[in-house]
Amino acid sequence: MPEPIRLGIAGLGTVGAGVVKIVRQQAAMLEARAGRPIAISAVSARNRDKDRGVPLGDYAWEDDPVKLATRADVDVFVELMGGADGPAKAATEAALAAGKDVVTANKAMLALNGQALAEQAEAAGRTIRFEAAVAGGIPVVKALTEGLAGNEIQRVMGVMNGTCNYILTRMENAGLPYETVFEEANKLGYLEADPTLDVGGIDAGHKLALLASVAFGTQVDFAAMQIDGIERVSIEDIRQAADMGYRIKLLGVAQMTARGLETRMSPCLVPATSPLGSLENATNMVVLEGDAVGQIVLRGAGAGEGPTASAVMGDVMDIARGLRLPVFGQPAATLRKAQAASARTPAPYYLRLNLQDKPGALAKVAAAMGEAGVSIDRMRQTQHEGTNAPVLIVTHKTTRDMLEAALAAFPATGVVADEPVSLRIEN
Ligand code: HSE
Repeated sequence: MPEPIRLGIAGLGTVGAGVVKIVRQQAAMLEARAGRPIAISAVSARNRDKDRGVPLGDYAWEDDPVKLATRADVDVFVELMGGADGPAKAATEAALAAGKDVVTANKAMLALNGQALAEQAEAAGRTIRFEAAVAGGIPVVKALTEGLAGNEIQRVMGVMNGTCNYILTRMENAGLPYETVFEEANKLGYLEADPTLDVGGIDAGHKLALLASVAFGTQVDFAAMQIDGIERVSIEDIRQAADMGYRIKLLGVAQMTARGLETRMSPCLVPATSPLGSLENATNMVVLEGDAVGQIVLRGAGAGEGPTASAVMGDVMDIARGLRLPVFGQPAATLRKAQAASARTPAPYYLRLNLQDKPGALAKVAAAMGEAGVSIDRMRQTQHEGTNAPVLIVTHKTTRDMLEAALAAFPATGVVADEPVSLRIEN
């Protein structure tokens, strides 16, 4: 009888309970596929008494995740607690030091500490697998590290935060303002404990930083990412975008350019009929482009019990089968430090301004844009009452730097009432 692989699971929230369910309910299938039983030795969580809808009595209980991670009867430490530092990182380091492999859903921990943890794992002959950290149930890390290993990856992009996509599509479909839908998302339990992680683009940024490392063979560098959240996207922007055939998505793009690695996460206009444009609710989508394969589109649930537990189990199964890939797809010591490049790939931009409704106001704005080298493609002033006029401008292709120069010149015109909204158009 082959030896079981024994898990220690820290964190028994939705995902942890989902993992326990799969291990219990699919034991025979998992054993047949892995060639050995998958067993749980011990679990750990903050509250021992909570009913998690799954029997835990067969497993040892540890209050301290570090103790759990270093138990002699644990082969794989499954870290599902979350948090960039603190207990999750301490327990992960302890597990690696004790010769365990680690499976985690913790994007923040790896986006901020991934290089050091990967070096520690690989020095110990162990691995850290993190499929569940990126786009929930979509096996995108596996796609990049295995199926596409023969490709030079040119670009990775996608919608990787289901909460933001839910908010944006719900605003559009129900014609509701941001604040109302934010509250709805809160009531539905979609928002992270710190909602800024979602709506500020940080959670999606963590995910993109991890994918960029795997895609381009570079050290994970979250600090280099340009991040804008969706907080300033209004129902008016969504309506205007729809009128022009676009939808607004919190879009992440990572690409290697001659100047260095460009990574950005920001609300963008994408064609409504494109795969990204047609993405509804909390679904995620990742688009991968490789020199040999061309474009691949992966779509699926980015969060939730089943999808995230599915990703955790995929990693557990690899380790049970003896597959220990380098954490970021190539040995950590060979990952390059990428030069961070600001997004200079030119694109058209959507601008929404509130202008004082007085003679010459539009001319002053147009002149400021012209002086910054930004050319106007289309312009529309919508019907209004009162002293301010909402004006929409779509520029010809320009760089972010030139657009920012134009935006910086607006206050001096004396006619721009509020801070303008500017969104990149990704055709
Ligand atoms: N809060 C995330 C989302 C799920 O909405 O996609 C976990 O990363």
